Amino acid sequence: MTHTADQISELAALAGTDASLDAHWMPFTANRAFKRAPRLLVGAKDMHYTAADGRQILDGTAGLWCVNAGHCREPIVSAIAAQAAELDYAPGFQMGHPLAFRVAERLASMLPDGLDRVFFTNSGSEAVDTALKIALAYHQARGEPSRVRFVGRQRGYHGVGFGGISVGGIETNRRAFAAQLLPHVDYLPHTHDLARNAFTRGQPAHGAELADDLERLVAEHGAETIAAVIVEPVAGSTGLLLPPVGYLERLRAICDAHGILLIFDEVITGFGRLGAPFAIDRFGVVPDMVTVAKGITNAAVPMGAVVAQRAIHDAVLDATEAGIELFHGYTYSGHPLACAAALATLDLYEREGLFARAAELAPYFADAAHALRGEPHVIDVRDMGLVVAIELESRAGRPGARAFDVFLDCFAEGALIRTTSDVIALSPPLIIERAQIDQLFELLTRALRRVA
Ligand SMILES: Cc1ncc(COP(=O)(O)O)c(C=O)c1O
Repeated sequence: MTHTADQISELAALAGTDASLDAHWMPFTANRAFKRAPRLLVGAKDMHYTAADGRQILDGTAGLWCVNAGHCREPIVSAIAAQAAELDYAPGFQMGHPLAFRVAERLASMLPDGLDRVFFTNSGSEAVDTALKIALAYHQARGEPSRVRFVGRQRGYHGVGFGGISVGGIETNRRAFAAQLLPHVDYLPHTHDLARNAFTRGQPAHGAELADDLERLVAEHGAETIAAVIVEPVAGSTGLLLPPVGYLERLRAICDAHGILLIFDEVITGFGRLGAPFAIDRFGVVPDMVTVAKGITNAAVPMGAVVAQRAIHDAVLDATEAGIELFHGYTYSGHPLACAAALATLDLYEREGLFARAAELAPYFADAAHALRGEPHVIDVRDMGLVVAIELESRAGRPGARAFDVFLDCFAEGALIRTTSDVIALSPPLIIERAQIDQLFELLTRALRRVA
């Protein structure tokens, strides 16, 4: 879109920048609407953003579910600065640098025994595509090359690579690219069931049997064609869809019975969000691979990783006599700045006991969320750890519009919340104080009452 000179200077003043807003094609954004009324953030510290007009905005979403230790934390900032001055970059192919090995070991030490081989990426999307590729390589290495089929889940989000959108269950993310998706993918049903589970606290009671759909797919295609199942233990991006009691255990058992790999996408649930280090710990179910990103560096430098069971890693390595075993990797896999940020972040989580803090605060946070029952248009409230979802009844023919108006109202009043369709998700940094929880829900309550 183009603007007149007057419009440009007006927008620039609003945005706190002298740049035109035209050139930047923004991700997952209604670009035209945004550029008519931009919302720009120019600073951040701990629980708050600073908006371009100087207002303090309470961060109710940890950025995009990633700034788990709060913003611009000094130990992370100085670790990145020091690393940039010491070793800015080192090639990761046929070369290494010590920090990457330290982060890998540290991450492995946080996960159950055996889940200890770490492949670095730069995002959750890359971690997902990497995990899918490792699954194929593993089956091939073991002499089962017919295992090529992936099973995802409706309403699953696994990033935006071709692998991730293929196994992801969000129709809008696939529509424009449908002609070139991965060819052999099936979907389990999602676990969201308002009729049986609305306003449940914590894990819903009903729906474990939905995992049995995997047996149907095994019967239909043959286990010998299925490489892996990938699920978010708790689906985040489509509005906090929780696993019913017993569901993940059942999925694990069916995968085991048929030699199918189970991949947990913990890009959102990792690093304390659920009041435990990982969803693995929260639910006591151990996958064959786990994907992480976001909170691993407190989002200060992009980083992602796949952590695979050692047996998977060993099978892939053993299948090659000499030379490169896995033809895969990124220029920035294990980037020194990301590694420095990760080590400082993981230290900070530990030093401040932030995962335990999330668990302690969770009941208070859930109480505040469930108190919204009865407010206008609220049809469900869901909670787990330091994340809650408030689902609103959609306006006729305009899904998402009501929640987006609530988002705009909250931003105008000083709080950042997140919406997908008509679900409002709150996932603040784990350092949030009770008084800030109160403030967040006060602003949200007023917004709900104001928005028709
Ligand atoms: C579960 C899950 N997987 C993958 C991704 C993609 O991560 P990224 O945006 O870093 O590529 C996300 C992002 O929100 C996610 O929630």
